[in-house]
Amino acid sequence: MSVSVVTVYHSGYGHTAVVAEAVNAGVSCVEGVEAILLDASELNTPDAPGLALLDNADGLIFGAPTYMGSASAVFKGFMEATSSRWMEQKWANKVAGGFTNSGAMNGDKQNTLVEFMTFAMQHSMIWVGLGQMPGNNHSGGSENDANRLGATIGCMTQANVDQAGDVAPPQSDRDTATAFGVRMAESVKRWGR
Ligand SMILES: Cc1cc2nc3c(=O)[nH]c(=O)nc-3n(C[C@H](O)[C@H](O)[C@H](O)COP(=O)(O)O)c2cc1C
Repeated sequence: MSVSVVTVYHSGYGHTAVVAEAVNAGVSCVEGVEAILLDASELNTPDAPGLALLDNADGLIFGAPTYMGSASAVFKGFMEATSSRWMEQKWANKVAGGFTNSGAMNGDKQNTLVEFMTFAMQHSMIWVGLGQMPGNNHSGGSENDANRLGATIGCMTQANVDQAGDVAPPQSDRDTATAFGVRMAESVKRWGR
């Protein structure tokens, strides 16, 4: 039986879109998993047609840039548009995870991931973290390491603010995101509805 995983993301300037594509590519690598990528800006009203895809999915992945230390306002518009589904607990027991991208190495990305996790808990979903050891944390490490930002509760990536999405975030972050997508897809197969 196949399962589906929807990645919902927002990207103002293209960096998080690159990460979303990397995550989605990882999801699609896993046999028996349908990968669907949706733009949160088209899901900001309760009657947005695309929300039906989320209703029917087995797993959901949330992604947004960190703006002013939290998820972007556009992504929060999507979050708030789900409140009627929360009332019904319609998404209970779906598997969930999240990712965020920002300009600074730290940049308060943790707060955005905590927001996503809290959102998933409000919906009674099952949260899956990054599942990768920290990279770039020893004398032989480098920025080319997977999980170079040392994230745990979700996937973090960093894009230099003067570079466009063709080069930022770097390949190591894209690889980290793809591995996260694989983990999410395998988690959905194991624990999803
Ligand atoms: C309104 C705004 C607020 C931002 N706030 C932060 C922040 O709190 N921390 C940070 O590291 N970068 C911050 N940035 C930089 C973005 O996170 C960064 O440029 C990111 O790559 C944008 O992703 P996007 O291209 O998907 O929109 C901010 C950018 C904007 C436009």
